[in-house]
Amino acid sequence: MAEPTLYERLGGIFAIAAVVDNFSDRLLGNPKISEANPELHAWHTVSYTGRLPGLKWLRTLWLASLAGGPFAYTGRELRDAHFDLKISPAVFDEVAAELSRTLDEFRVPEREKGEVLGAFAGWRGEVTAGSEPGAVNWRRWR
Ligand code: HEM
Repeated sequence: MAEPTLYERLGGIFAIAAVVDNFSDRLLGNPKISEANPELHAWHTVSYTGRLPGLKWLRTLWLASLAGGPFAYTGRELRDAHFDLKISPAVFDEVAAELSRTLDEFRVPEREKGEVLGAFAGWRGEVTAGSEPGAVNWRRWR
């Protein structure tokens, strides 16, 4: 029999959506993230009111797709989606720590927790590209 995918081992779409829901709400309550810079502060005090449900949906789709579920992530590339938020590597690491706490709260086993955190960490460079001094998102002009 084929080895179950990470998607299956996490418990499928409802388990993944519950994790993303909890994780996304945690970020709103962490000032090291929500007050890290003016762009993130504006998002967490104004923009989030209309965008949080859609963001949770897109994050769920991203994780469900990456984990091998029957879905394809068709949102924006992560570099473009995060560029203007100027997310520093330190903020990225704080977000990863919140994800780790969420996975603990849901009692996700060590193996699956490591795979989710590893997949997240693999995007550190893309997500933090906009925080480099003088960074310009040339891809926007293609
Ligand atoms: C591997 C790491 C990450 C993944 C997989 C991820 C996933 C996503 C996805 C799928 C979107 C929606 C993209 C779209 O508009 O199509 C998004 C947007 C967003 N992400 Fe992330 N993210 C990551 C890291 C971070 C970090 C470190 C922060 C820091 C707070 C962050 C904050 C946001 C915010 C505020 C938006 C909404 C932007 C908007 O309103 O358009 N993300 N993220």
